[in-house]
Amino acid sequence: MKKMHFMNGDRFPQIGLGTWLSKTTEVYDAVIEAIGAGYRHIDCAYIYKNEKEIGEALQHAFSTGLVSREEMFITSKLWNNFHAPQDVEKAIRISLENLKLDYLDLYLIHWPLAFRQEQARSTGDLVSLEEIPLTSTWKSMEAVKKSGLTKHIGVSNFNIPKLKDLIANSEIKPEVNQIELHPYLQQNELVRFCQDNSILVTAYSPLGSHHLTDNENSILLHPVIKEIARKHHCTEAQVALAWGIQRSTAVIPKSVNYKRIHENIGTEKIQLDDKDMESILTLNRNHRNAKAMFAVFPGGPYTLESIWDE
Ligand code: A2P
Repeated sequence: MKKMHFMNGDRFPQIGLGTWLSKTTEVYDAVIEAIGAGYRHIDCAYIYKNEKEIGEALQHAFSTGLVSREEMFITSKLWNNFHAPQDVEKAIRISLENLKLDYLDLYLIHWPLAFRQEQARSTGDLVSLEEIPLTSTWKSMEAVKKSGLTKHIGVSNFNIPKLKDLIANSEIKPEVNQIELHPYLQQNELVRFCQDNSILVTAYSPLGSHHLTDNENSILLHPVIKEIARKHHCTEAQVALAWGIQRSTAVIPKSVNYKRIHENIGTEKIQLDDKDMESILTLNRNHRNAKAMFAVFPGGPYTLESIWDE
């Protein structure tokens, strides 16, 4: 398994199993199959509402000796309604209980957004970043790392200005930034900034979440990707993942399908050459799937521009 490393030498397996939109009825089997196939990294989040089933699968894998806890790398994320400093420990404990673990390997602030309740339905449900600054949430993230509830801490969906602010105002720097990355959203400047600042990068939606897009926006149907797949005798999905791996990001493709779970980890064997990497570089079109995930409330404290570098 290809690995990246944290500053203290801990390993960060480069291919992980994504679990966003994995159904509660399917994710148990997917996790067992993935561990059997060699996955050692599972990406979870409180808001995916399937941590309990993932926890049951992990419990089964540990108790039957399929894998040990120490061999696995498990991530979860702080949801937007737990940003108040006094709520962070409560939130990580809920995920730990769901996952049946006594520590996480990585805990991330899921979004640079704070909500008054789990789902924000109107402007009134949003909390401004003046009211709960991200730096105050981060102080509590530092505390849960210090108390051993998680080995590493990081953020997700943070742009360069937000990272700079956190770096300047923290004792423990963010160790990971998990962001949407695929050939149609390459974010080269942000990836470079993270890597220059020793922040490991995880690519979510590494297949472009092609199930959410129309054919025109499916990277798996692009002729350049198809041609590279033909050349390497691999699938288009493997080309997209190999590209992510070769630019030193972790990739967390979601799948509940056994064949695709194996296919995705099989990417480890594929080596793209410089010409392939250069061709893929030209495909960037700043196509952001995550945009569709948030309604932006007119007159509220958040705009898309405040979240992303746009
Ligand atoms: P499924 O779970 O049925 O395999 P992303 O991680 O970019 O969001 O992509 C996840 C989507 O891509 C899911 O719909 C998943 O469906 C599908 N998927 C996962 N692996 C592959 C693959 N190797 N080829 C095609 N589609 C895939």
